[in-house]
Amino acid sequence: MPSADEPFALIIFGASGDLARRKLMPALWSLYAARTLPEPFTILGVSRTEMTDEEFRTRTREAITEFAHVKPPSENVWERFARSLHYLSGDPKDASLYPRLASTLAEIETKRGGSANRLFYCSTPPSVYGAVVQNLGASGLATQEHGWTRIIIEKPFGHDYDTARELNAQLAAVFNEEQVYRIDHYLGKETVQNILVFRFANQILEPLWNRVHVNHVQITVAEELGVETRGAYYEEAGALRDMVQNHMLQLLCLIAMEPPVTFDAGPVRDEKNKVMEALRPIDPARLDEVALRGQYAGGFISGRQVQAYRQEKGVAPSSRTDTYAAFKLHVDNWRWAGVPFFLRTGKRLPKRASEIVIRFHRTPHMIFRRSPQGVAPNQLIIRIQPDEGIALTTTAKTPGPELQLGAVTMDFRYGEVFGGHTPEAYERLLLDAIHGDATLYARGDWVEHAWNVLTPVLGAWADGGDPHLYEAGSWGPPEADRFIARDGGAWHTP
Ligand code: BG6
Repeated sequence: MPSADEPFALIIFGASGDLARRKLMPALWSLYAARTLPEPFTILGVSRTEMTDEEFRTRTREAITEFAHVKPPSENVWERFARSLHYLSGDPKDASLYPRLASTLAEIETKRGGSANRLFYCSTPPSVYGAVVQNLGASGLATQEHGWTRIIIEKPFGHDYDTARELNAQLAAVFNEEQVYRIDHYLGKETVQNILVFRFANQILEPLWNRVHVNHVQITVAEELGVETRGAYYEEAGALRDMVQNHMLQLLCLIAMEPPVTFDAGPVRDEKNKVMEALRPIDPARLDEVALRGQYAGGFISGRQVQAYRQEKGVAPSSRTDTYAAFKLHVDNWRWAGVPFFLRTGKRLPKRASEIVIRFHRTPHMIFRRSPQGVAPNQLIIRIQPDEGIALTTTAKTPGPELQLGAVTMDFRYGEVFGGHTPEAYERLLLDAIHGDATLYARGDWVEHAWNVLTPVLGAWADGGDPHLYEAGSWGPPEADRFIARDGGAWHTP
């Protein structure tokens, strides 16, 4: 692996877009301000918008001021960062852009000195990814003659199994798999990274982490936001493509996987693939038992009236797109045989809350028969966001002469223990790609597995039926409660 101190250039296709403004440029600035960005570096924005270097710097400064945790501290520091920002206007679909890109890079790198390490970032609309990859290949920009060359592909990676395979094939025709970084920003979240540390750096959990002790697992990713300005994109995606195929299946893998030999890209991603291979195929004839979709109607969020999904900008008035999806999945292997994994995600739910609940079995025999209360099963709750932390609920005797039992929670809160600011997912992921560490990125075969598992659902939902409507500000359609109740469970309310 190249050392962290080598110079590099980050070339962002789609640099005038929303992702660059909200996430990428603020993350790069935060890394720079924390002195963790290897130097010297070059950030070259590329997109169709006409802009000079100076205009790109001004826009970047505005984006940082609005979205970064660390504001520009002084003119000096900002000026030093800004000198590394450059811009080239042109259409990334158009092959004639690439010779200009090559000469701009060569010119900057000659002035800057050092190896020509290059990290390309596809942050364009997904329909353009293929053209960018082909053009990089045809123009000779994908070679690694004068340094390393890597490419980050933003989500969504494909629209279904076939398109994901096609994109993988386009990438494979130009790059080696080691050069390709498929981003899933959930993997860069501190609390998500901590799942593996929590599981595999502690001895006490492993003996409990299996079907003998675990009754079921719940993974919830709830959002208060609606589709905002992304109606047109979301109409094509829906909750299944937007959240389940990537973020939620990644979370499932981190909970279900076997211990990798080391925390490195190869072993970690091999183990995640084994989970995908063990996922029970979804039978379209019994779809209602394992999948459920919903769509938000109007309602109230935090006392504010919000409109129905079908009234959002860019959304068809008769849209059948899912804004809520729930699944019951099974990992058919030795560890997890018979343990259901319930997944749910939705927009316009009462609050933003992502968590994983490990619900353990009840005690085999109740000796406290004189206690009037029942004993709730133990549960471990990993709060991904917000209020990041891990809580374990147990039963205890409540003080007093009577034998009264009550639930108590041991709660570790990141904010209390570590204080300060938690780095953004994009900071960690960008740094990893610069350092050549793909552990927290999705591998091509994993992405294909994920699409493959969900293909019967995509087909069935496209073919007919309507999603269950739910009131904005509720926890999803009432059918979702019945969905989990069939197995004797209930959703944990975050
Ligand atoms: C994105 C989805 O991948 O994740 C969005 O496209 C969603 O629809 C977002 O809102 C959620 O991310 P986070 O980090 O806010 O939980």
